[in-house]
Amino acid sequence: MPTTDSILKIKRRIASDLERLRLRTFTMTAPLSDDDLHHQFDPLMSPLVWDMGHIANFEEFWLLRELGGRTAHDAERDAMYNPFDNPRWVRSQLPLLNRIEATEYLDEVRHGTESILTETDFVDGPPLARDGYVFEMVVQHEAQHQETMLQALNLRPDFEAYTLSAVRRLPPRRTVDDTERITIEAGPFTLGTDNRVSAYDNERPAHEVHVGAFAIDRFPVTNRRYLAFVTNDGYSRSDLWSSQGWEWRTGADVEAPQGWDRSATGEWSQTMFGRVRPLDLQEPVIHVNYWEAEAFAAFEGGRLPTEPEWAKAANWGPNVDRPRTYPWGETHPTSAHANIGQAAWGPAPVGSYPVGASGYGVEQMLGDVYEWTSSPFTPYPGYTTFPYPEYSEVFFGDENFRVLRGASWATSPSVTRNSFRNWDYRQRRQILSGIRLAWDIT
Ligand code: AVJ
Ligand code: FE
Repeated sequence: MPTTDSILKIKRRIASDLERLRLRTFTMTAPLSDDDLHHQFDPLMSPLVWDMGHIANFEEFWLLRELGGRTAHDAERDAMYNPFDNPRWVRSQLPLLNRIEATEYLDEVRHGTESILTETDFVDGPPLARDGYVFEMVVQHEAQHQETMLQALNLRPDFEAYTLSAVRRLPPRRTVDDTERITIEAGPFTLGTDNRVSAYDNERPAHEVHVGAFAIDRFPVTNRRYLAFVTNDGYSRSDLWSSQGWEWRTGADVEAPQGWDRSATGEWSQTMFGRVRPLDLQEPVIHVNYWEAEAFAAFEGGRLPTEPEWAKAANWGPNVDRPRTYPWGETHPTSAHANIGQAAWGPAPVGSYPVGASGYGVEQMLGDVYEWTSSPFTPYPGYTTFPYPEYSEVFFGDENFRVLRGASWATSPSVTRNSFRNWDYRQRRQILSGIRLAWDIT
């Protein structure tokens, strides 16, 4: 039974998380012109003002209406910001709230949220409010949309002004062997979690899973390793690609990850947010889709890990007897543990986070890049939808998706945890996705 004191502490943390995330929504959008905010950088992405209005609408729905019992603000807004009724490619044609209107909407809803947070009974209130769950959900929703907004911004080639002032905050570089592998013994471990405060429904329940012995890369796949695939005709060798992967490859005019360019003299560079840097061979490869990850695995003779394999490497270890919140244990992530929270504006060189190693010694499992697994997105046994089917349930079993695990350099600490499950279309490469290979043990 939580005490009044601990409830107050949770409420204070939620208030500061809401505040911190909101500040970032505003600092992310502040440098952009109105045109940029309304511009659809790619049919796959929303205009950023849509995200702003949608963030407000989601918070209004869950906190003001479902929890607080207030009446709907405006039915037209509900329709406009419903992601299912309006796929990303139509969103720029909607009569969206402009920057000022969306900001007013955000402020107005937040005003209501503040009093509802104070009033809500976290112990005897409705299931939604139990231990503050629905507030955590709203915090994480805004954080996830910020990652989507960054993906859209990154597709714009001329954004130098946007990141010119951004400092890459990184720990000291260490020299490591980027091909090192770690063996994980056969046996059971606990997949998923019973956490009902911050985990999503798709992460529950905790259940025992048996995984055969395998090896896994100690580090995410580096640009160095991926470059060997690129320069050894990886993109033109159909034998390395699955048939669907090859279909994507021949339809898409690409020969390297998103953002890579080769100069006339053969130098490779990488452009992110309009900033061009020489390709850093020790950084994890980013902006590859599932088909590219699969073909790269074939090139090296390895394979993508299954979701349970990835989770075992992150959660478990010789001296671990219950699933860990983070690979390193229960300590809240610091800048020594992982590259998250938009501190570095890109992945950090492998070897930068020895403190963040898992019980098995696998490094950088959270932070830098989400990692493709070979698993479709399916419910764990015993799954129940809470609080709404549109977060997870409607996506279960769709073969076009694959699960990605981990967290990216842009992921908020509120979304960073071992049990978090991300998923996306196999052809998506604007997401902050990379690779870590698994290896059969013979
Ligand atoms: C979990 C990242 C796949 O962005 O589609 C945002 C998160 N859900 N609003 C997405 C989400 C509802 C979701 N992903
Ligand atoms: Fe959303």
